[in-house]
Amino acid sequence: MHTDAAPHGAPTQDLAAKIPPADEVAGVFGLSAAEQEIWARARPHLDVRNNDAHSLYAWGIARQLLPLVPGVDPDVVLPAILLHDTGWSCVPRELVLSAIAPGGGRPDLVRTHEIEGARIAREILEDVGHPPALIERITAIVDGHDSRREALSADDAVVKDADKIWRLTPHGITTVMGWFGLTREQAHRLCGYRVHDHLFTEPGRVMAAGFAAVASVDDAPERLALG
Ligand SMILES: [Fe+2]
Ligand SMILES: [Fe+2]
Repeated sequence: MHTDAAPHGAPTQDLAAKIPPADEVAGVFGLSAAEQEIWARARPHLDVRNNDAHSLYAWGIARQLLPLVPGVDPDVVLPAILLHDTGWSCVPRELVLSAIAPGGGRPDLVRTHEIEGARIAREILEDVGHPPALIERITAIVDGHDSRREALSADDAVVKDADKIWRLTPHGITTVMGWFGLTREQAHRLCGYRVHDHLFTEPGRVMAAGFAAVASVDDAPERLALG
């Protein structure tokens, strides 16, 4: 009997030929060569509390928001999201969680990570030869990405939304659970409360609602009973 699937689920040659190229499918992309250079320099500064993986997922979310939000500059948004949390490397590791804890945290340390992040971002962007005018716009976004309540521009709005929407991704829910000792369902509720009503773009709101729907089913007793 003929089947489309080879043993162990590997696609047959016939099926492989029917899979479209990545650039024809929304949401399938990788870091550009310039972004890889920035990432290689940012990564050592992001080795704190899953900030490295957080930044990559937030980059992916921002990357997908780009074609959906008018008036954004990819050469501002994408470096900004890769670099936005580098400043946590300048806050003592044992204080990072208390800085971002629900119910107040440590606004002074949040501010420190923004200021230091803007400094590190400038150093990295100058090192890779990013255009000076764009460096100014990127560091302005990094310096205030958490504490500033309003968005400076469409670029800033996308960075802010991508940063927050990550919390509702499977990786975000799992990470927040670990940070604060929550159940998956508690983390889902906490993250939703802190995300949905605080987004700046309509595509971001739709994306967040989609992630939340998936997280809800992840926690549904009927789903959990399936193992
Ligand atoms: Fe941050
Ligand atoms: Fe962040």
